[in-house]
Amino acid sequence: MIVGVPTEKFPGERRVALVPELVPKLTKAGLEVLVQSGAGAAAGFSDRSYLERGARLEPEIFQRADILLKVQPPTADEIGRMKEGSTLIGFLQPYTSTAEIRTLAARRVTAFSMELMPRITRAQPMDALSAMSTISGYKAVLLAASRLPKLFPLLMTAAGTITPARVLIIGAGVAGLQAIGTAKRLGAVVEAYDTRPTVREQVESLGARFVEVDLETKDAEDKTGYARAQSEEFYTQQRQMMSRYVTGADVVITTALVPGRRAPVLITEEMVQGMRAGSVIVDLAAEQGGNCALTEPGQEVIRHGVVVIGPTNLPSTVPLHASQMYARTVTNFLMHLLQDGRVHLDLNDELTRGPLVVHQGEILHAAVKARLSVGAKVS
Ligand code: NAI
Repeated sequence: MIVGVPTEKFPGERRVALVPELVPKLTKAGLEVLVQSGAGAAAGFSDRSYLERGARLEPEIFQRADILLKVQPPTADEIGRMKEGSTLIGFLQPYTSTAEIRTLAARRVTAFSMELMPRITRAQPMDALSAMSTISGYKAVLLAASRLPKLFPLLMTAAGTITPARVLIIGAGVAGLQAIGTAKRLGAVVEAYDTRPTVREQVESLGARFVEVDLETKDAEDKTGYARAQSEEFYTQQRQMMSRYVTGADVVITTALVPGRRAPVLITEEMVQGMRAGSVIVDLAAEQGGNCALTEPGQEVIRHGVVVIGPTNLPSTVPLHASQMYARTVTNFLMHLLQDGRVHLDLNDELTRGPLVVHQGEILHAAVKARLSVGAKVS
């Protein structure tokens, strides 16, 4: 079977779905690896490095591949060139790429969406979202540090003492914890808050202070480890209680997400107004609507003297390691699907079934199907 790796065409995307070091893993499993010429260039991987590891280079991938590895969802044109019955693995954005999911079904592609990987121990080596969140958390701090008109660490110099920057992290999941670690390493004083009480210990073990707010968060976590949505009344209270922490911070990094929902608005315009001029907000929830009311996705804006950054694809700004980490999760998943060098689907296996969106012309994923409001049969 042929595994194909095309160049990502999405604007600003620099990652690639397979890195040279993983080619031998696939060829040893009996697969032939075709890489589009230049596919790894933006991430720092030359055509030669793929050739040296046993891949072949081709100008066109979609028509040739039995298994297609991607980062971003394929365009309608790319889907049109895919082989019927082929397998696709990538971040398919299944809740928003409505037309593409339908076209994949009509084309009878078997499509797996890496975002939908179940959060079970067995799936951890295939957890692409966590891998990318790690990068976003790290890079968010660097962005903030480079925009802040202050230093992060405490410095005692002949020119006097510099007090450390105060960083507040709202949402201490994978990205938030990485942001805490990075901000601590740069010498900032770090505080963090999350609605899931289990996070407190992790925050404290990284040397940050867990913000004390008097909110009832008993049902904050579902059985998969994700946050549950709270009532509007809860969010109103949360905003009131967190206001003084936000206005006291030099940098606020927000990562608060509830799966399948718009991100909760936790920082109002009034709170931004109360912040010192020159302070920085990096809103990692920008793509899901933003945790700050003033965030503009994909933009950096200055409001009331505060820099509000709403990045939408930070992993792509660290393309080498982002590609390496992503490719490992994708390859681990592909190895899970393979039996004697062929894709074998065990639909009773949670790991296979979880990320499976489309198979044999049907949209199989219940939540995606509900979101698309279509009947199961498309072709
Ligand atoms: P996420 O990206 O969906 O959310 C980020 C964070 O925002 C979460 O920690 C969530 O509790 C928090 N949040 C939501 N609403 C909030 C609010 N109103 N105020 C403050 N914080 C709020 O989640 P992420 O980071 O992908 O994962 C969350 C947790 O899931 C991890 O910390 C981990 O414990 C668990 N996990 C388990 C895995 C496994 O077992 N395979 C893999 C990855 C994560």
